Amino acid sequence: MGMAVTGPGENRSILDIPEKQTTVIAEFNQITPGNIMKMSYLHPSENTYTFGNADLLVDWANSNGIGVHGHTFIWHSNYQVPGWMQGYSGDFQAMLNEHVTTIASHYAGRVDSWDVANEVIDENNHCWRNSVFYQKAGADFVANAFRAADAADPDADLYYNDYDTEGGNKAKLQCLLQLVDDLVADGVPIDGVGFQMHVQIDWPSTTDIATAFQAIVDRGLKVKVTELDVPVNNPYASTPFPQYTSFTATAASLQKARYASIMQTYLDVVPANLRGGFTIWGLWDGDSWLLDFPERQGASDWPLLFTGPSFGPYAPKPAYDGLVEALSGQ
Ligand code: XIL
Repeated sequence: MGMAVTGPGENRSILDIPEKQTTVIAEFNQITPGNIMKMSYLHPSENTYTFGNADLLVDWANSNGIGVHGHTFIWHSNYQVPGWMQGYSGDFQAMLNEHVTTIASHYAGRVDSWDVANEVIDENNHCWRNSVFYQKAGADFVANAFRAADAADPDADLYYNDYDTEGGNKAKLQCLLQLVDDLVADGVPIDGVGFQMHVQIDWPSTTDIATAFQAIVDRGLKVKVTELDVPVNNPYASTPFPQYTSFTATAASLQKARYASIMQTYLDVVPANLRGGFTIWGLWDGDSWLLDFPERQGASDWPLLFTGPSFGPYAPKPAYDGLVEALSGQ
């Protein structure tokens, strides 16, 4: 069970909030740094790596018996790709290899796994997002990143991670399977697929989610739920938005059922040896990145497992009970 956390250099870093540490240690056994291992934070200029903040967080996890899922060597998001890299005019592939090798070597033995590449798919552009990586290094940058990571840290599990691949978007799932099949056919050391699962309360169906998980299981790869959150308001639904302006008992029980059925689907479809883990994208509702999402039009939401206040104590919501019930076969 994993939890995305903030770290030093961010607002409300877990290292500044003892109550957050207590809850994470009690309830989870892996963290994902939600931001601070991304490219711009670890590699702000070509010849400079700034590991200090991430080291503090990884050391905290290691010393408390908590594993770390590294996130992420390569991600296109403009403000988290350092400017120097966006304008890089040298051998782009060699530069990316050095980036992956240096970070993977630095954390070898201290992380369980990595999102090696994040969100490289665009189902409307022959499956490839037209990122700076794709433009300057071509499609092989993904395979090369896996190879570099594996060489630097042969023990870490290596994942390809993406959103909207969990079954509702058929075209994107097909692109994912094509990418995975190509990597496997080329002997690339990929261990599994991360499904972000920034899902809606009513979409995609658990039948569709099961199909997506099954496709990865069929390929003998691990399935990891990497960034799950379940808001109760769906801006894309046919019903008026927001559906809830406060967290009513009805909203809470719908959310509980949704968390439980996602966990149940995971347990039903993914055999134990292929379960890479199940990570929630934030601890308490006020931490959720979704609150700043433009499509949510400023509406409140309550997507996570715990209530606040921001410095704790944190109280489990019905959604938490839903996960526990599914995990304990109730
Ligand atoms: C998000 C963080 O949660 C935010 O704090 C940040 O401002 C932007 O990135 N998919 C991913 C994550 O893989 O890295 C993103 O995290 C959420 C979407």
